[in-house]
Amino acid sequence: MAVFSEVQKAVELLLQGELVALPTETVYGLGGNALDAGVVAKIFEAKNRPSFDPLIVHVASVDQAGEIAEITEEARLLFERFSPGPLTLVLKKKDVVPDLVTSGHSTVAVRIPNHAKTIEVIRKSGLCIAAPSANPFGYTSPTTAQHVEEQLGAKIGGILDGGPATIGLESTIVDASGAGLKVLRLGGLPYEEICKALGKEIPVQTSSSKPNAPGMLSSHYNPGVPIKLFEDADALWGAYSETKATVGVLYMGESRSLEFERNLSEGEDLREVAAGLFAGLRELAKEAVEEIWTYKMPEVGLGRAINDRLKRAAISV
Ligand code: TXA
Ligand code: MG
Repeated sequence: MAVFSEVQKAVELLLQGELVALPTETVYGLGGNALDAGVVAKIFEAKNRPSFDPLIVHVASVDQAGEIAEITEEARLLFERFSPGPLTLVLKKKDVVPDLVTSGHSTVAVRIPNHAKTIEVIRKSGLCIAAPSANPFGYTSPTTAQHVEEQLGAKIGGILDGGPATIGLESTIVDASGAGLKVLRLGGLPYEEICKALGKEIPVQTSSSKPNAPGMLSSHYNPGVPIKLFEDADALWGAYSETKATVGVLYMGESRSLEFERNLSEGEDLREVAAGLFAGLRELAKEAVEEIWTYKMPEVGLGRAINDRLKRAAISV
C-alpha cells in the first residue's frame, strides 16, 4: 500500500534509502536522506527534475540546521521568529552536503516544516531530509497524499498521509547567505511579515529567466489545461458572458453556481484561496473544460504568492 499513516514506517523506509512523500503545511515533499548522494539522485530521477534545480533540506531544529549550514545572526532571527513554518533560508553550506543537493552551489536551502508527523519523522530517523515538492517537474504541487499517489505513487517507496496541506503554497525562500537578504521565491509566509521582523524592506528577486534561480522557471505549476489569468474579476466575468468555450472558473466571493467552477473562498479570505488553489486547478483540469480561467488577487500578503503561481501556470495574461 503506497499511502500509509504511520510515522514509524516512513522512518524505516527513509533509513533504508527509500524515497517517501511527506506532508508539510505548505505542500507534500518527496523526501530522502539529504546526505546520501545516491538517494538524492533518485529524487531527481523520480521527479524528472533537471539537476540544475537545487533541493530544500528539511530539519527539525535550528541546531540541526547548524549541522549542514552556517547560521548567520539574521538567519537565526528569522528561524526563531517563523520556524517551524513556511520559510526556507538559503545559507552557506557545510561540506557534509552533497553537491547534487545544491546543484553545485556553495549555498543550501534549509527549512523547518510545521507538521507534527514530518517533524517526528526527522527526529526519529535522525536524518536531514531533502524534499522538493512531490510532483513531476513543471506540474502543480500536491496538497494531498492522493495528489502524490496519482502522479508518483508507482515510483517511490511510499506516501505518509498527514491530511491536506493547511497553507497550500510552497514556502517563502529568503537568501540569507551573504550581506543583504533577499526574497528568491514568494510563498506561504507573507513578504510583509518578514520585513516587519527584520525592521526593513528587503528586495524581491524572483526572476524567471536566470538559470541559477530555477523552480522559478515560467511554465511551472501547469495542471494540464491552458489557464487564462485576467487582471481582475470584472474582466473575467465580462469575457465569460461572451465566450463560446467550455470554461472552468476559479474565483472567490458570492457563489455563481456555474457548471464548471471552484469557489475558493466565499468570504474572500486569501488564506482559504491559497489552501484550495492547487487542488482547485487539478480538479478543474480533470473536468470536461477546454480552459481554466481565473484572475489576479490583490497584490498584498498571500496574494503576492498566489499571483506569482498563477502567472507561472498561465498561458496568457
Ligand atoms: O514549501 C516548500 O518549500 C516545499 C515543501 C516540500 O517544503 N518544497 C518545495 O521544493 O517547494 P521545490 O524543490 O519544489 O522548490 C525548491 C526551490 C527551487 O525553486 C530551488 O531553485 C530553490 O528552492 N533552491 C533550493 N536551493 C537553493 C539554493 N541553494 N539557492 C537558491 N535557490 C535554491
Ligand atoms: Mg516545486
